[in-house]
Amino acid sequence: MATTPTSKRGTWNTKLGFILAAAGSAVGLGNIWGFPTQVADNGGAAFILIYLLCCLIVGFPVMVAELTIGRRTQKNPVGAFKALSNGNPFAALIGYWGVLCGVMILSFYVVISGWTLAYVFEEILFYFGQEGWAAYFGDLGNGPKNAIFTLFFMVLTVLIVTGGVSQGIERATKALMPILLAILVILIVYIFTLEGAMDGVAMYVMPDFSTVTGGLILSALGQAFFSLSLGMGALITYGSYLNKKQNIVESAAYVTIFDIGIAIIAGLLVIPAMFVAQAGGVQIFNPETGALFSSTTLVFDVLPEMFHNVGGLIGMLLGVTFFILLGLAALTSSISLLEVPVSYVIDEHNIRRKKAAWLIGGIVGAIGVLVSFELGLIDLFVYIFNEIGLPLGGLMICIFLGYFWKTENALLEMKDGYETVETSNFAPIWSIFIKYISPVLIALVLASVVWGLIAG
Ligand code: PFF
Repeated sequence: MATTPTSKRGTWNTKLGFILAAAGSAVGLGNIWGFPTQVADNGGAAFILIYLLCCLIVGFPVMVAELTIGRRTQKNPVGAFKALSNGNPFAALIGYWGVLCGVMILSFYVVISGWTLAYVFEEILFYFGQEGWAAYFGDLGNGPKNAIFTLFFMVLTVLIVTGGVSQGIERATKALMPILLAILVILIVYIFTLEGAMDGVAMYVMPDFSTVTGGLILSALGQAFFSLSLGMGALITYGSYLNKKQNIVESAAYVTIFDIGIAIIAGLLVIPAMFVAQAGGVQIFNPETGALFSSTTLVFDVLPEMFHNVGGLIGMLLGVTFFILLGLAALTSSISLLEVPVSYVIDEHNIRRKKAAWLIGGIVGAIGVLVSFELGLIDLFVYIFNEIGLPLGGLMICIFLGYFWKTENALLEMKDGYETVETSNFAPIWSIFIKYISPVLIALVLASVVWGLIAG
């Protein structure tokens, strides 16, 4: 084997393998659980439009930045910023923030993923008339049950990550992503045949611009960062396993388009499904406030009730397939969340992959058990590490790349795999976005959050 650092760290086997792994990281609970309910809650197509703008104006440029930093340094986020700043401890802080966000986001992500697995059992048991047991598996507030499923999902994630980059992550995502797509399409086709589905489609495509506020833009930006797996170095890490032949700009475009596409398709499943539930007599709006129920209620209460209403073998199969879909999407994302702290421990503390994965998995699992019993922590963690943490990380990445490492150096790295990048239209446009437009937009949105906190 050659002695280049690339071969020592492991690399993606194929171009498609990398794109599917990165898309697998991007497509997750954020697309199927988060996006549709945010759309429904925030003015339908108006939210989609703002979300698309956030993905294109901020998400895509930051994704190119992360992949470039990763491939240039071939290091985890902490090592990458250290390397590009000649060991400046302040730059390394961006990486440490990413590692912390990775651990904390994963610690609630596994709890929600555990719910999806438990609901597979709930649907099956309900079908076989075991309503008591079904209710047990469907009880989101049951701490011990939550903890068991959380740990099971954590172990699954660790097992894939211990397999390494090409044999673990790439192999798993390559197998899982097509299954995920197929399940999504089958479910949509069936849901569309049910009464009420078209009301959902109408809500989905009709924009209501009266709902557009600062808060909505913040939600859209936070959702874009979360859904595209940006701001915490997941794509620095995945980029560090890229070979020099791959066109970074093109790959980032594929991953962005894929992620947006799956979110929009998932909306076509979840929103009509909610209206099918309503047509079947299930409440989807809170009678007191008139607002749509929270995403957790919608996905874990309303949809199962709809599957039960459909009834029989078909209802059960629909439910089981839906929750397997959600679980698979979550799994290909949770491995990327774990890979960030694991690659940090492997690179910076010289610990073997297997040991590193179990060690970090153990820590995350322990916090996950705590979250399983104290579900209020989910909202808190989402707020700190997702809604604020990821855009903050993205802001720091833009500033670091634009003003310290410099866009010219990044473009030089992109030349491998995209020979003409420096003379392309992409180069000046991307540079302006990374230096001015993306950071200013992120800063404005973050400032509005801080202002909201101060003003109460
Ligand atoms: N993109 C994932 C989702 O949409 O569910 C979540 C995620 C994965 C966020 C990896 C951040 C990350 F680094």
